[in-house]
Amino acid sequence: MLTEYHCHILPGIDDGSDSVDTSLKMVEMMKVQGVERIVATPHFYAHREKSVADYLQKRQAAYESIKDSMAIQDVHLGAEVAIEHGISELPGIEKLAITGTRIILLELPYRAYEKWMSEEIYNIAAEYKLKVMLAHVHRYLPYYSRDEIETILSSKSILQINNEAFASWKEKRLAKKVMAEHTHFAFGSDAHNLSDRKPNWDLLQKKVKSDAIEVSNSMFDRYMLPI
Ligand SMILES: [Fe+2]
Repeated sequence: MLTEYHCHILPGIDDGSDSVDTSLKMVEMMKVQGVERIVATPHFYAHREKSVADYLQKRQAAYESIKDSMAIQDVHLGAEVAIEHGISELPGIEKLAITGTRIILLELPYRAYEKWMSEEIYNIAAEYKLKVMLAHVHRYLPYYSRDEIETILSSKSILQINNEAFASWKEKRLAKKVMAEHTHFAFGSDAHNLSDRKPNWDLLQKKVKSDAIEVSNSMFDRYMLPI
């Protein structure tokens, strides 16, 4: 089941879709491209939110505004949680895991790597028995040294790759390394709109063999909560 793990399709909640109409068109585009299951992951920045509960309420309202009209109905709610100092101790952080699963999508800061970032990742996983999915691991190439990238890749997380990585020589090289050397990886469009950051599953399916896409799809089922 082709699974979108990372996208900003919920309207009016972050810098992603700005309207119900855009959201529905983005989902329609995904459907045409073969997506069967969507995880919606609006940004979560702890320092900007009143609380996790408040964010979850906003997310639910945004989802309900499009829910009945979406071309794909198998939708799960998650968040792209920015790693900040102390994030692992934020009350309710575990509620940001993808609904129905033990997976939580975390985004590293865009700056030089520091050890506390790995500690926050480890603490979230250990404290709540969650499986961390690290967002777009190829995006940190300009910020981290080769060794630091290695540290991140070996963190026992699910390594998430944006489909657009396959359009860049440098990022593709890292994505291929991840697929060759790791058993836990997942794809996402990280779509924000219908223009410069639109759903791009057509690109992925052109560039990546179906068995790798299967690995990605299986991550969801592997960490599903018992019903
Ligand atoms: Fe994102």
